[in-house]
Amino acid sequence: MICKIITSMTSKKISFIGTGKMATALISSIYNKQLAKTIIASDKNNKNLNNVKKNFGIKTIKDNKEAVRNSDVVFICVKPQDFDEVLHEIKNVVKNQLIVSIAAGIKTKHIESILGNKRIIRVMPNINCLVGEMAAGFSKGKFATKKDVDYVEKLLSASGLAYLVKEDLMDALSIISGCGPGFFAYFMKYLAEAGIKEGLPKQMAYKLAAKTALGTGKLLLEKNMSPDDLIAMVASKKGITSEGLKVLNKHKVNKIIQKTSDAAYKRSKELGK
Ligand SMILES: NC(=O)c1ccc[n+]([C@@H]2O[C@H](COP(=O)([O-])OP(=O)(O)OC[C@H]3O[C@@H](n4cnc5c(N)ncnc54)[C@H](OP(=O)(O)O)[C@@H]3O)[C@@H](O)[C@H]2O)c1
Repeated sequence: MICKIITSMTSKKISFIGTGKMATALISSIYNKQLAKTIIASDKNNKNLNNVKKNFGIKTIKDNKEAVRNSDVVFICVKPQDFDEVLHEIKNVVKNQLIVSIAAGIKTKHIESILGNKRIIRVMPNINCLVGEMAAGFSKGKFATKKDVDYVEKLLSASGLAYLVKEDLMDALSIISGCGPGFFAYFMKYLAEAGIKEGLPKQMAYKLAAKTALGTGKLLLEKNMSPDDLIAMVASKKGITSEGLKVLNKHKVNKIIQKTSDAAYKRSKELGK
């Protein structure tokens, strides 16, 4: 059974329309784990195309239609504002291909309305895919099959965690998965800079912050702890963490995080069609 699943995955020809930051992370994972028969990258940006050609030696073209014609699975990885242009360009050449969209906000119903009731899966990946630590979510369009869902789940799971969710939860999931790496990196930057200000060498401070973030996530996951459990373990009474937490609470940083997430959620809804 496992052999059958692996064979059905590796026999697929996958193309990417748009080969920017997120597509490159997905290509790197699929390429390194040999999860496709062939990978084709199509983009109008020469720099991004050359980058994936140099790093993975895959076929690159500047013709989205040609990419679709030669694929079983098409990942559309352009920005939401460029999305409809691509859909209109490829609509006449999409036949039996599974279409996977990674664009924030764009609904499967919208894609189906332009492509004509095709099999669509909407994915919210995250950039941590580059190191095999992705936390992703995905949802299915009306015409995608159970086989399509299983395939995408296996493909994403090869690079981390992938939850199938109802589509109306995708905007909420995007705040954690899509934006999360940027939000955590923001906190790590200023934590490291506080250490640098007090004399730590820059490289050391950044590495300490990154390793601490990595270990914190690992601890929560592996010991099945809640963030509150962990805070209680670290913040001993009258200790240094407790002093810092008092400032976070006094300035209502929880409310600021809520506002940050609300803004991202609102933007995801705005991009939604
Ligand atoms: N970055 C993330 O962490 C992340 C996370 C989750 C989801 N996403 C989603 O992933 C998608 C891509 O984001 P990104 O950050 O990877 O963007 P990006 O780095 O700007 O990549 C998009 C690429 O698509 C190209 N492109 C634009 N129009 C095209 C067309 N008509 N045909 C072919 N290629 C075209 C762009 O070329 P030009 O540069 O010349 O415009 C660029 O190379 C977005 O929809 C975003 O919502 C991103």
